[in-house]
Amino acid sequence: MQPDIRQEIIKSIKKLPTLPIIFEKILETVDDPRSSANELQEIIKNDQSITAKILNMANSAYYGYSKRVSSLSRAVVILGFDMVKNIALSVSVFSMFPYKNEKSYFNKEQFWLHAIACGYLGKMIAERTNYYEPDKAFIACLLHDIGKVVLDSYFEDDYSKAIQIKAKENISIREAEEKVIDLNHTEVGYFLGEKWDFPDELLSAIRYHHFPAEAPQQYSSLTYLTYLTNIVCQEERIGEGGSVLPVQIEPQTFAVLKLKDSHLELIRQDIQDLREKLETMIQAIHL
Ligand SMILES: [Fe+2]
Ligand SMILES: [Fe+2]
Repeated sequence: MQPDIRQEIIKSIKKLPTLPIIFEKILETVDDPRSSANELQEIIKNDQSITAKILNMANSAYYGYSKRVSSLSRAVVILGFDMVKNIALSVSVFSMFPYKNEKSYFNKEQFWLHAIACGYLGKMIAERTNYYEPDKAFIACLLHDIGKVVLDSYFEDDYSKAIQIKAKENISIREAEEKVIDLNHTEVGYFLGEKWDFPDELLSAIRYHHFPAEAPQQYSSLTYLTYLTNIVCQEERIGEGGSVLPVQIEPQTFAVLKLKDSHLELIRQDIQDLREKLETMIQAIHL
């Protein structure tokens, strides 16, 4: 391990670009219950790349329309307000980290599938449990592993090494990251979220998504929800979440989220039912 790599990474996170404006604007609409489909279209229509990806999705075989969908407003009708919002949120963040390292051991496509699947599943868990803000759940779960992409994009050689060590030693990606760069993706995601002025609740979900009991108590709902979502998505094998090692869900999770065992089965079914749609989405928004 290079002695000061931890400091070097923290310093470079501070120099990363700011949060995309479009993400910030959509985040504002999440806090405003009066926000409408029209407002969302106004935000999105100026961004050609996001608009193109939304049209791509509306034109995918999954939706089966024979006539070409060429307007954003028509796409909103076909895909629904939520789907359009989720694509815009995902694409605005994902496009900050384009593919650049062909030799990387990090499978970005599978990673984004994991991220989007977690976003959707988190939202569904929020709707099935007492956690009352599904949109916030979507964002926290979508972004929980964002630190991994930062590491792969800016420290690709070290990160590829960590991925190899993980496979060779059969340890979690978090432990492998710590071995190679003296820092793990939850910390990197946290530093990035701080730079992007994320609310504390979202920072807590990113920072403690593997150890929710360590989260500040006032943020434990969202943190436990993110923790559970990550485990279920990995167990259901949708995308690549970085670990196939079995994890025992902390019993506290059920109490915090007022979740019953029977919910868990429904939640697993929820995400399997969405698999095809999510895979289509990843193809449609290919970055
Ligand atoms: Fe993680
Ligand atoms: Fe994850």
